[in-house]
Amino acid sequence: MSALINGALWMDREGNPIHAHGGCIIFYGGYYYWYGEDRRENYYVSCYRSKNLADWEFRNHILTTESRTEAYRVRTKIQLQNEDSKKVNLERPKVLYNEMTKKFVLWAHFENGKDYHDAAVGIATCDTPEGDFIYHGHFNPYGYMSRDCTLFKEDNGKAYFISAARDNADLHVYRLTDDYMNVECLVHRLWQGEYREAPAVVKLQEKYYMISSFCTGWAPNQGKYAVADSMEGNWSSLKEIGDETTFGSQAAFILKVNGQALYYGDRWGGNGEKYFTSGYVIYPLAEVDGKLEMSYCENIDISAYT
Ligand code: DGJ
Repeated sequence: MSALINGALWMDREGNPIHAHGGCIIFYGGYYYWYGEDRRENYYVSCYRSKNLADWEFRNHILTTESRTEAYRVRTKIQLQNEDSKKVNLERPKVLYNEMTKKFVLWAHFENGKDYHDAAVGIATCDTPEGDFIYHGHFNPYGYMSRDCTLFKEDNGKAYFISAARDNADLHVYRLTDDYMNVECLVHRLWQGEYREAPAVVKLQEKYYMISSFCTGWAPNQGKYAVADSMEGNWSSLKEIGDETTFGSQAAFILKVNGQALYYGDRWGGNGEKYFTSGYVIYPLAEVDGKLEMSYCENIDISAYT
């Protein structure tokens, strides 16, 4: 099976729905690893593995309410359940492999499960891509709010954390420390008052592109992108990409496969039980005459890329 129907809830090789929303894919040791939100039972983040981006094998619930916790040098609050013994929220998980520490480092948007006021980032690590991650707690980078987020890693290992601040009004870009366990510098406060969510970054032909959405809850809206010569350089103003709902999706991440950029998005079902009907989309991206363009397709033959 290599043709994926855009907007559908894709199945793993056992025929079970893939629970990996708002997540990311990394390539390591000959496999693609897909991490994403799994809101069932006591799970937070689940991990699937594939060699071809079409057949996905469930590997582990890498972060749950029962995950091992461990403090580290940064002062955080460690809370995998709230005061009412209910689940917290760990949304939009992103994972990078750190070559220096040989650890897989996960960053995710943390909320306490009761209200939406913590606006923090939670961090977890593991020695293997699909093992049980150790949770290190959440914090507000330099005291700022931090909601929808992503990570981006340069070829030289330098990494950045991008997250929505000031009740989503601004989008912050932070350079990470070499071990990816903290922010080192706030390098940008982008698009003040533009209310961007769901950021996703890719480097294509020496340019950096960032796609994001507007804030309309679970409803899709017009995606926009910006371009820069470097992560820390000047970012352009926002330009529209795709249609007025960016083809019925909100960005999760952008994957580079053999030099081609693939936009992965969520087609959210909505709140409560409807969340579990959420599907996935993949739309190819390309730079055409200095603009980033997204190609709409009803389904995608992923074998053409791998
Ligand atoms: C939009 C965000 O991008 C999603 O991750 C999710 O938090 C929804 N809002 C909730 O309404």
